[in-house]
Amino acid sequence: MIKFCVMSSTLLSVWALIVFAQAGPLVLPGSPLAGLTSQELELFRMGREDFSEVETAEDGLGPAYNGTGCSSCHASPAIGGITTMTEVRAGRRDENGKFTELTGGTLFHLFSIADHRCQVQIPDEANVIARRAPIPLFGAGLVEAISDQTLIESEDPEDRDGDGISGRAARIVDIATGRQRIGRFGWKSQHATLLAFSGDAYRNEMGITNDLFPDEVALGIDPEQLKLCSPPKKGVEDVRDRRTQLRGIDQFENFMRLLAAPQRGVVDSAALGGESIFQNIGCQSCHTPVLFTAQHKNPVFDRKAVALFSDLLLHDVGTGDGIEQEAAEANEIRTPALWGLRFRRPLMHDGNSSTIEDAVLRHAGEASAVIAKYRELPQGEKASLLAFLKSL
Ligand code: HEC
Ligand code: HEC
Repeated sequence: MIKFCVMSSTLLSVWALIVFAQAGPLVLPGSPLAGLTSQELELFRMGREDFSEVETAEDGLGPAYNGTGCSSCHASPAIGGITTMTEVRAGRRDENGKFTELTGGTLFHLFSIADHRCQVQIPDEANVIARRAPIPLFGAGLVEAISDQTLIESEDPEDRDGDGISGRAARIVDIATGRQRIGRFGWKSQHATLLAFSGDAYRNEMGITNDLFPDEVALGIDPEQLKLCSPPKKGVEDVRDRRTQLRGIDQFENFMRLLAAPQRGVVDSAALGGESIFQNIGCQSCHTPVLFTAQHKNPVFDRKAVALFSDLLLHDVGTGDGIEQEAAEANEIRTPALWGLRFRRPLMHDGNSSTIEDAVLRHAGEASAVIAKYRELPQGEKASLLAFLKSL
């Protein structure tokens, strides 16, 4: 982690600005970004409608799927948030430690359409099984507008500054454009754009094929058998709306891009004190308080401070789920944003932490020295730090 050394003083002042800029109008979770044009508000409204729709087998759902709509897993405390659903991933690690994907990728499908001939089972060869919790989408458009360069500048893969914290930018190919990009969405930073994630989720979570992901897949089921389980089709199922020409994946992208960021909760004096402890013991090394968006033709995204509390880099904090995915190693997880933490339970990529304190205590690996400092804090300071985290 190198950016803190060079940026600490500017960060501090920006951070203070953000804390004291809370007094604006109340932004309820699930609201659109402030300052949208009426046309953008209409895109947001239409996008939310599609995002919340419940699909059936006649609409292309399945044959294997995890949810009947994006909102099956992104609905609390408002559309775009999370639910308590966790997904399963599986794969195989051989005697030499090499990870291989089984037929159909790593995502397991929990459900299948009638008559369930294509119900997925964990294949015998699988010896790695992992669970993943949903990630809330509030402020996702701002995260998308952070430049690749910003993320590359803060990575330190060789740990050249010797602080024990490395952090890698996830170099991936964006399926929507075919371009080399830096991933920032998903627990493995597997996507760089909301359009690519929409295509991925539409096919992989719901079984609805689209321009970006045109083929049906299901873990452990060969494509020929999958065809037999689906009603006959004429190509991809995500068709353009006759009036707007938008595809489902464009609608999801619009909704997520225009969702407002989570607003800070009440910042009392304990929380304020906790904020400096968070910084002093080094949590901010990975949970970077603020990143800035690049220049953007839309003023809503143009050079904005994004108070997300994440560097969006891949780290090994000893909790890795064993799955290699895109640029991420088996033991790497992308630092989650902490904004909106008060609306989220359970925590961590696997949803295995029921409290914030438990999530903190599970950090090891690159975070070991920081967590050792946390453990040594006097009780009062620990309470302040937790009050700060609960105010996010
Ligand atoms: C069955 C539950 C489920 C459904 C249905 C679902 N998601 Fe998700 N979503 C998840 C999970 C779990 C993750 C974390 C995935 C990971 O990284 O492995 C996630 C992550 C995301 C992210 C990454 C957010 C970030 O900031 O990193 C986006 C974007 C997203 N989902 C969009 C969608 C869209 C669009 C749909 C509908 C087409 C959808 N999801 C349907 C469970 C779901
Ligand atoms: C080396 C980088 C690093 C440091 C240092 C670090 N974290 Fe994290 N943090 C992570 C990563 C990566 C995860 C996700 C781990 C997982 O899900 O398995 C995480 C997860 C969390 C979560 C759970 C968030 C969620 O949405 O589930 C909380 C809360 C958190 N960290 C707080 C802290 C606090 C407080 C400190 C300082 C005491 C700290 N972290 C230090 C990288 C770091």
